[in-house]
Amino acid sequence: MIEETSLMMKTLFPGLVALPNLHPLFVHFPIALFLSALGMEALAVALRREKCHTVATWMLYLGTASALLTVLTGLGAEFSLAALHAQGHDAPGHDYIHIHRRWMITTTLFGVGLSCYLYWINTKEKWSTHRWVLLIGFLMLAMLTALGADRGARLVYEFGTGVNPDIIKTGHIEKQSTTGYTQGGEEAHTPGAPASSSTPGTDASTPHPHDNSDTGTNPIRPGEQGGREGE
Ligand code: HEM
Repeated sequence: MIEETSLMMKTLFPGLVALPNLHPLFVHFPIALFLSALGMEALAVALRREKCHTVATWMLYLGTASALLTVLTGLGAEFSLAALHAQGHDAPGHDYIHIHRRWMITTTLFGVGLSCYLYWINTKEKWSTHRWVLLIGFLMLAMLTALGADRGARLVYEFGTGVNPDIIKTGHIEKQSTTGYTQGGEEAHTPGAPASSSTPGTDASTPHPHDNSDTGTNPIRPGEQGGREGE
């Protein structure tokens, strides 16, 4: 029964099953909600429409709630990654996670503060006198979110944090030995490579432009980054 469920999950949600932790599932909510809240509040101020302000209010509240949950999953991701390495939190490159963590905890606390301010404005009906200060608050929150989330994206896409290098290696090896590898019943292909193996230049004998099969790893690994605490 458990095996059948796990097979079904792998077939329906191969991406979800491959996630190293829950953090990537949550990160999009605060980003989308905080940025949309800024857009909605800007519309409210520009058009003097209180209805837009009400939508922005709920976007901010939901964004803050989702940011709090995302921080929890981020801390979980940090600890699970540290547990995988013999040096734990002192592992080379781990300090970059701390940089992202500081940005995101600051962003979330700012979101909590702005939500309290907004609640006070709405209950005292002071929107018309406070709308410009509030809009600046929304703008600052959006900027913090964008800058901090960018550090998170960098963790994954530049340093390969949380990405298992063996998976990349396996993909390349299987691609070389067959006409394309299959996973979970679907045809899969190496990211960046054309899906069809009949495409000129993608046969087994031709090296792939992104191929690192001599090392089987990402070009940049966390260990090569050293300390970046000052960023
Ligand atoms: C509002 C809070 C947060 C947001 C919006 C956020 C956003 C992001 C984003 C966009 C990524 C790249 C994910 C991807 O593209 O797959 C990421 C990765 C990551 N973040 Fe966060 N983050 C938040 C809080 C935190 C916190 C507090 C930590 C604690 C250290 C953390 C640790 C990580 C780690 C370890 C990764 C690497 C990918 C992984 O293993 O999940 N994040 N984050």
